[in-house]
Amino acid sequence: MNYETSHHQSLKQLIAARDARVAVVGLGYVGLPLALTAYDEGFDTTGVDLNPDRVARINQGGQVISYLAPDRIAHAVESGRFRATQDAAALAEADIILICVPTPLTDAQDPDMRFVAAAAQTIAQHLRPGQMVVLESSVWPGATTTLVQPILEAGGLRAGSDFFLAFSPEREDPGNDKFDTHSIPKVVGADDPQSRQLVEDFYRAIVTSAVPVSSAATAEAVKLVENSFRTVNIALVNELKTALEAMDVDVWEVIEAAATKPFGFMPFYPGPGIGGACIPVSPAYLAWRAADAGSDTPLINLARSSNDAVPSMLAARMAAELAARNGSALAETGQPLTGQRILLMGIAYKRDVEDTRRSPALVLLDELEKLGAEVDYHDPYFPRLPEGGEYPQLAGRTSQPLTADNLKRYAAVAVITDHSAPDYGLVAREAALVFDTRNVFEKQGIRVADGRLVKM
Ligand SMILES: NC(=O)c1ccc[n+]([C@@H]2O[C@H](COP(=O)([O-])OP(=O)(O)OC[C@H]3O[C@@H](n4cnc5c(N)ncnc54)[C@H](O)[C@@H]3O)[C@@H](O)[C@H]2O)c1
Repeated sequence: MNYETSHHQSLKQLIAARDARVAVVGLGYVGLPLALTAYDEGFDTTGVDLNPDRVARINQGGQVISYLAPDRIAHAVESGRFRATQDAAALAEADIILICVPTPLTDAQDPDMRFVAAAAQTIAQHLRPGQMVVLESSVWPGATTTLVQPILEAGGLRAGSDFFLAFSPEREDPGNDKFDTHSIPKVVGADDPQSRQLVEDFYRAIVTSAVPVSSAATAEAVKLVENSFRTVNIALVNELKTALEAMDVDVWEVIEAAATKPFGFMPFYPGPGIGGACIPVSPAYLAWRAADAGSDTPLINLARSSNDAVPSMLAARMAAELAARNGSALAETGQPLTGQRILLMGIAYKRDVEDTRRSPALVLLDELEKLGAEVDYHDPYFPRLPEGGEYPQLAGRTSQPLTADNLKRYAAVAVITDHSAPDYGLVAREAALVFDTRNVFEKQGIRVADGRLVKM
């Protein structure tokens, strides 16, 4: 058996016997559920994260992410086969290293690959023959091969022979109670057959199915295509909402009826814009890489700017509705919402998650305040807005209670993120005016008195 085959064979056997030790770099919304899934499927797993608070909370068995089962982390830690550490030296002990660090945008809205490069540099310091490194962060096609591989090879080891290298995109959907990390098929791609085989073996061992593709770049493109598809369709449905409204047709009813077609149609629903660390970011990675490769993505770019414009369109619409109800013309300039108190329900970027990254609710809050409104929020996941977000001036604000007395204090209550917990019946009874960007009242069969509900 030659040198290459022996590394390949021995990692293959370790995976088959579930004796391979797994390390996950980055224990965020993606890395932590993935690490727990590897542990659940019998692999000894170590999470490496730079954040000391997160590491401590995990090792104390804290729940950390609200939609994980409350005792899941505690049970894993108690077993002695799952742990978190800040110490990157743990990477030397691992047979398989999964990279799940952030891939945000720069101020210029271009890919910010600093976290991926830093993680690769850390791994390179501990890399040894026979290991497999899998990048999971959403990146542009070519990043694993042209950015991560040279960093890992700088010490002299070669990908595909001394160590194995692959890309597998994350499809984690925080808060989704139908699909979790284990039940979502995993696309896997690598540039050499040995890495491809090993990454497929590993994911077949921990998730419901692995979908091999011919290269790392193909797997990278899969992720960006999935998210760009959503970006374009969300922009489309928001455009349809506005156009159909002008015709007195309810877009929600149209979508429900169209969705009965058994082929060729997939429902998307209007909302307050897009948010999170993923859907708004991936199309920017794709657009950047397309331009770099001498191509273009005009449709995707248009969808991105349409989606970005939704919160300020909603703010303007709310101002117009309030002015009309007050019997006044909407001031063209200045602060038409001066003296108006508005309560935003749901500040997270999507229902039932404690994540405000790129949340359209925060953009809307900021826009309404620029128009002069006094804005409060209610969100069971954010009793207090943390420091260090995209709107530092909002840090420290607190969630207002959803009581009959409190609801009466606002000129309007706007549902932005339809968390499951709030009592929408109470809102329907007590609010002077309700703006509903999620169709939550109709979906829940709650009647709001005539004229007091504005679907938007
Ligand atoms: N959140 C989602 O819904 C989602 C879904 C699919 C894909 N993704 C992609 O997955 C990747 C991770 O996203 P996330 O939401 O889990 O991010 P996150 O911000 O929740 O977590 C990232 C973690 O990585 C840690 N970290 C950063 N640099 C590190 C380093 N050098 N070494 C060790 N730890 C480091 C941070 O402390 C943090 O805990 C991104 O590329 C994202 O686009 C996210």
